[in-house]
Amino acid sequence: MGVAERELLLEALDSNWVAPLGPQVDAFEREFATWVGSGHAVALSSGTAALHLALRLLQVGEDDEVLVSSFTFAASANAVTYLGARPVFIDAESATWNMDPALLEEELKACAERGRLPRAVVVVDLYGQCANYGPILAACQRYEVPLIEDAAESLGATYRGKPAGTLGVIGVYSFNGNKIITTSGGGMLVSQRGDWVEKVRFWATQARDPAPHYEHSEIGNNYRMSNLLAAVGRGQLQVLEERVRQRRANNVFYREALGDLPGIGFMPVASYGDWNGWLTCITVDPTRFGCDREAIRRHLESLNIESRPLWKPMHLQPVFRDCRVRGGSVSAGLFECGLCLPSGSSLTSEERDLVVASIRSMRK
Ligand SMILES: Cc1ncc(COP(=O)(O)O)c(C=O)c1O
Repeated sequence: MGVAERELLLEALDSNWVAPLGPQVDAFEREFATWVGSGHAVALSSGTAALHLALRLLQVGEDDEVLVSSFTFAASANAVTYLGARPVFIDAESATWNMDPALLEEELKACAERGRLPRAVVVVDLYGQCANYGPILAACQRYEVPLIEDAAESLGATYRGKPAGTLGVIGVYSFNGNKIITTSGGGMLVSQRGDWVEKVRFWATQARDPAPHYEHSEIGNNYRMSNLLAAVGRGQLQVLEERVRQRRANNVFYREALGDLPGIGFMPVASYGDWNGWLTCITVDPTRFGCDREAIRRHLESLNIESRPLWKPMHLQPVFRDCRVRGGSVSAGLFECGLCLPSGSSLTSEERDLVVASIRSMRK
């Protein structure tokens, strides 16, 4: 937390607006929309809620298909199933670890030939880096399939100068406790379409029709953000740029301190944009390094240092075993050999030194 969060939170508490709406929510939405340069924003209870309502806006329904990055956290795909639709997974490309534009194009072509296009594409900006939107958007436009950008991990990143979350027709963000800025739990949905954002606000507030009593002509959700948490979010937005600097500095440090080790690689940083440095991820080639990713992870764990394998791709998850996948070997390979290192913005230099020394000591 920075300094403003406490003040804003107390201001919210003292105002007695302790509800999932209020002036802090309104202000957070306005300030967030300005920060990312999107026309409209609605603050929600989670990134997952934002994905759910983004898909609902695009009329995803029973038995529809939605193309989703396979290399991601489960929430990106779970939301598709909430609407009775089926995710179809697209593998990552080695160059960015994000959705492979060529595989997306292939899948869209195959869907068109089958006469059944997907209702939407959900593209994830992984570990703080935007996907390669030039060819991805070109493919989506060619087949007229709308794109939702899952920017849960990438607030503060850019693609050719455009902020993460503004490349598709709808962008979603997460303020979960592990994200670059947090409200403990929370999310945001943005779009240039004011009518869409208004509709999401309506659904997220239990779909209350305008009436003095409770009148409902649609099914709603209880997905609004608390006024208290929005106050925290406003303070966090003020330190976002600093958080990006701190996280990128972690990455530069790890690259300099571990880059000479044979068999250790880093997530490639694409030249088309700036990443936000959210997590520093390495790959380990056991034959060149001398031991595998798991040995490193377990050694770090024995020293009370938390690290984690890269996301297990969705096409390898038991719950999605019946879903179609295009490609699959790139993300599967990254899952086998990849590790997320401690990357918090409050890491001390002693802590970073310890991580590095512990990894270096594993080299056989
Ligand atoms: C890529 C991605 N999408 C969606 C989510 C879901 O966000 P939330 O935890 O706020 O529901 C997360 C992380 O939590 C994520 O990493």
